[in-house]
Amino acid sequence: MKTQRIVEILKSGVADTDLTVQGWVRTKRGNKNVAFIALNDGSCAANLQIVVDLEQIPESVLKNITTGACIRVDGRLVASPASGQRVEVQAKAIEVYGTADPETYPLQKKGHSLEFLRDIAYLRPRTNTFGAVLRIRHAMAYAIHEYFNKNGFYYFHTPIITASDCEGAGAMFQVTTLDLNNLPKNEEGKVDYTQDFFGKSCNLTVSGQLEGELGALALGRIYTFGPTFRAENSNTPRHASEFWMIEPEAAFFDLEDNMELAEDFLKYLIQYALDNCAEDLAFMNKMWDPELLDRLHFVVEHDFKRLEYTEGIEILKASGRKFEFPCDWGCDLQSEHERYLVEEHFKRPVILINYPKDIKAFYMKQNVDGKTVRGMDVLFPKIGEIIGGSEREADYGKLHARVQELGMNERELWWYLDTRRWGSAPHSGFGLGFDRLLIFVTGLTNIRDVQPFPRTPQHADF
Ligand code: 4AD
Ligand code: MG
Repeated sequence: MKTQRIVEILKSGVADTDLTVQGWVRTKRGNKNVAFIALNDGSCAANLQIVVDLEQIPESVLKNITTGACIRVDGRLVASPASGQRVEVQAKAIEVYGTADPETYPLQKKGHSLEFLRDIAYLRPRTNTFGAVLRIRHAMAYAIHEYFNKNGFYYFHTPIITASDCEGAGAMFQVTTLDLNNLPKNEEGKVDYTQDFFGKSCNLTVSGQLEGELGALALGRIYTFGPTFRAENSNTPRHASEFWMIEPEAAFFDLEDNMELAEDFLKYLIQYALDNCAEDLAFMNKMWDPELLDRLHFVVEHDFKRLEYTEGIEILKASGRKFEFPCDWGCDLQSEHERYLVEEHFKRPVILINYPKDIKAFYMKQNVDGKTVRGMDVLFPKIGEIIGGSEREADYGKLHARVQELGMNERELWWYLDTRRWGSAPHSGFGLGFDRLLIFVTGLTNIRDVQPFPRTPQHADF
């Protein structure tokens, strides 16, 4: 007898065969003759019903079958006489692997708030909601590799420890083995990083882009997919200190190609979820967001609106809306502005392009107007910015001048600048925030609820 997973049993289990199932008890109910156990093994949202004839199972075992306990059931799969399930299991023998004392186990039957579950993030994968979220998360990760593999992009591993600051925002976590209580100093009285582990000051990466560009300028098309880290003290529902990012980078792509890739990629991922996560999405739609499925279908079926930043500002100013933050030309857009454009004005995703150069990173291709750069942000309903990207400055002279103008550390960027000295090529790329994608696809509203173990300011438990 081979252990089977509940997802397969419910779908294709043959009635009147013996089987073994193992999983966690969601609920037990019944009367003095029979008990019904709802068993879940994480393979799908649905539970398998176990029917227990109380005379067949010793009382000493039965009393330990409580919500949260882990059990093994040997029994017979039969057609279920009741509506609600195709098949059920008649238990012949039950072994309790791990008990869960009802007095102390925090996840009792009743629904729990997402806030409560954050405090017990080490247990929440066992809830229906997190089971669904984590399975969708897996499906999205798989679909990302599938998409790029189909489209000729190579998975390229960029370093997590780095000495350069890609976004130039300085919001980085330092990596050091120096004794913080006894720091070596140089002649100027500053910390002497030549004595540090790497012989220089290093950080956790904020983006794999700079190294990703090297990949694209050799392999043509690459993508990265890994963790990134930002030490910004932003306590919003959309910012995490540790998040995963997908960064495709392609040689010979201009901004137009980049926009097409971004739109096609997002639609592919959402369609993949609709096709492969139907049960979990239906659950999320029922429990958390009654408009979720409509929104996912809507995005897949409609063209994204492409819009110049300058036009976007004009629309915002003409809207008559009182925003919390200003929105004059030159301002960085806040989530409220982005969502106004997407949710109220255009009522569909927007790709905003050609931003003022002063609010964008140094590597973006400069437009001939001298004021704007070929950046693009993809703005989504409920999220705001889900993708940030650009065509890259491929001209050595212009890039070098910009690095100097911004007072950046040229010594740490020499290798990046060198790519423009030999065999430079037009190229473009973008970064999709994986966790923001998950917010969109699950219908939840907080990044803390789509990551298994969120890292945010003052929070690094589990
Ligand atoms: O716009 P960002 O900062 O762009 C870059 O890092 C580029 N180097 C990407 C590239 O062109 N290869 O970040 C890209 C995306 C954002 O649009 C957002 O979805 C996500 O990463 N993101 C975050 N997600 C969660 N928490 C944070 N603190 C995030 N910061 C950015
Ligand atoms: Mg951005």
